[in-house]
Amino acid sequence: MQQGQNRITQLFNIQYPIIQAGMIWHSGWKLASAVSNCGGLGLIGSASMYPDILRENIQKCKKATDKPFGVNVALLYPNLEEIINIILEEGVKIVFTSAGSPKAYTETLQKEGIKVAHVVSSTKFAMKCEDAGVDAIVAEGFEAGGHNGRDETTTFCLIPNVRKHISKPLIAAGGIALGSQIKAAMILGADGVQIGFSFCCDYRSKCAQ
Ligand SMILES: Cc1cc2nc3c(=O)[nH]c(=O)nc-3n(C[C@H](O)[C@H](O)[C@H](O)COP(=O)(O)O)c2cc1C
Repeated sequence: MQQGQNRITQLFNIQYPIIQAGMIWHSGWKLASAVSNCGGLGLIGSASMYPDILRENIQKCKKATDKPFGVNVALLYPNLEEIINIILEEGVKIVFTSAGSPKAYTETLQKEGIKVAHVVSSTKFAMKCEDAGVDAIVAEGFEAGGHNGRDETTTFCLIPNVRKHISKPLIAAGGIALGSQIKAAMILGADGVQIGFSFCCDYRSKCAQ
């Protein structure tokens, strides 16, 4: 493995093990391509997008960056089949699924050469992801924005426990913003981090200037 690389940077072919979370209403092509251009992994959040809007965001993102980017698919929203078809037709290479079973689309997407990560909020569900054969697991603590799990386990309690039970590449999410927090997550067993709220604040404050 090259210096500075780890399982997450290698899996997604990125420079830094930092993922910009898919966020309903907040992560379109502009934010995703900006993060990917800086060496992280930008995700388009499809949950707030009608299928034609998603297609437009993917096409604009492809024009705005030649770096890898992905799409977040929250499995509880309508038009799922249509969303998945657009992802396949547009040649998206990375998909982060959430809010549903990791078994639902992992195999279908992987058959087309797509890397799949799934988001969970507990060790029990992380183990289900491993059984489903996902490429990476996002373990999201209770601090995370958006929908959270019922267990209310905080990120830095969740990560070491998930690490104990799974061997797949692990991404920590929830309340992470600073370099020291990224380092702490990795010391506790994560291979990378997914950051939501801080990216959307930072992006919006810069765009407002
Ligand atoms: C405004 C907002 C919208 C979100 N929407 C989604 C979503 O559509 N799908 C999803 O999987 N997670 C969603 N999340 C959770 C993020 O993907 C991510 O895991 C979380 O924001 C990480 O915690 P942090 O915000 O403390 O960095 C959302 C988070 C925020 C703040």
